[in-house]
Amino acid sequence: MKCPSNTPPRPAHNWKSYWKQLSACILLPLLSAQTSLAFEGIAATTQTTRPSSEVSEQLELQEVVDAAYAKYKDLEEGANADYIPILATVPSDLFGVVIATKDGQVFSAGDIDYKFSIQSVSKPFTAALVMQQMGPQALLDKIGVEPTGLPFNSKMALELYEQRSANPLVNAGAIAAVSLIQADSESDRWAQIKENLEDFAGTQLSLLDEVYQSEYETAWSNRGIANLLYNYNRLYSDPEEALRVYTQQCSVGVSTQDLAIMGATLANAGTHPLTGKLVLDRKHVPELLALMATAGFYDESGAWMYSAGLPAKTGVGGGIVAIVPGKLAIAAFSPRVNQAGNSIKAMKAIRFIAGELGVGLYGANPED
Ligand code: DON
Repeated sequence: MKCPSNTPPRPAHNWKSYWKQLSACILLPLLSAQTSLAFEGIAATTQTTRPSSEVSEQLELQEVVDAAYAKYKDLEEGANADYIPILATVPSDLFGVVIATKDGQVFSAGDIDYKFSIQSVSKPFTAALVMQQMGPQALLDKIGVEPTGLPFNSKMALELYEQRSANPLVNAGAIAAVSLIQADSESDRWAQIKENLEDFAGTQLSLLDEVYQSEYETAWSNRGIANLLYNYNRLYSDPEEALRVYTQQCSVGVSTQDLAIMGATLANAGTHPLTGKLVLDRKHVPELLALMATAGFYDESGAWMYSAGLPAKTGVGGGIVAIVPGKLAIAAFSPRVNQAGNSIKAMKAIRFIAGELGVGLYGANPED
C-alpha cells in the first residue's frame, strides 16, 4: 500500500479503506516502534512529549473503539448464561469495549467500569502462575496443551484424551491448574491466585460473593470433573478444595477496563504496563498465547482464529480479552452468550476492531 506523508483526511464514504490505510501506514509502524521501547524495559509513560503521529494514533484507536461500540450496541442475539443462576440476573444490555496499549494507554466506550465475574477469562492467568512456579514442561506434563474441540465443561474429553485434563483453558485443565499451585493451605492457594490476577490487572480485585455462592451451590458438573481427574491421578490437591478455589477464581469481579489491562500485561511481554511489575517471564508469554490461540474459544477456537486471528480468552460472564502480541489488548464485555458460552457482542466487537486495525497474527484481516 502506498503511504502518504501525512495522516490522510477521513473520507465520509470509504471508511473501510481509510482504516486500512491508517493501520498499514500509521498504526502498525508506530506500534512496532513502541514495542522495541517496551522490550528494552522503557515504559512509554515516562515520555514527556508525544510526537504528533502518536496523537493521531490515539485519536484513531478511540475512533475504532467508538465504531465497534456503535455497530453492536443494539444487537440482542444470544442470552445470559443461566446454569450459574445469578448470571441470568445481570442486565443483558451492558456492553463495554476497551483497547489498552502495551504502554498502558486506554481507549474505551460503553459500560467499561461495570464489575462482572471474570469466569473462564481467569484461566490463562492461573496457567501463567503455574508456568511461573513450575515451568512450562510441568504444565505440558501435568495438565496438557491440546485443544479438545469440545465444550468447556466436557466430561467426554476426559475419557477421550489420555492426558484427561487436556489443557488449562477448559474446566478440567483449569481445576487441575488450581490444584497445582504450590500452596500450603486452601487459603494460601486462593490468596496466591487472587494476588496473581491483581498483579496482571495492577489493581485490587474483589470476590463477587453472590456469584461464588450461586456457582458453588450448583457446581455438580465441575465437582464431577474434579473427582474424575482425582480418580485418574490428574488432580494434585484435595478435589473439593480445588473446586472451591477454582469457583472463587471464576467469581472474581473485573471491569472491561481491568480485563484490557490484564491483556496489555501479556501484550507487554508479561510486565505490567503501569506498575512495571514482572508478572510472567517474557519467555513464557508465547507459550501462553499459543494456548489462547488454540483453545481460548473452546469448540469455536478454529472459527475465531479463522476470522479474528488473535489469541483470546472468553468467559461465560460475558468478558473476552484478545492480545495483539507486543502491541495492545482488546477487551469487551456483554452478558449474552452463544451455545459455546462466548459473548456474542464482545466477540463481534473484538473481531471488528482486529479487522479494522489489521492486526491479525497471520496478516491484516478486514471483515468481508
Ligand atoms: O466452571 C464454569 O463453568 C465457569 N465458572 C466458567 C465457565 C466459562 O466461563 C466458560 N466460558 N466461556
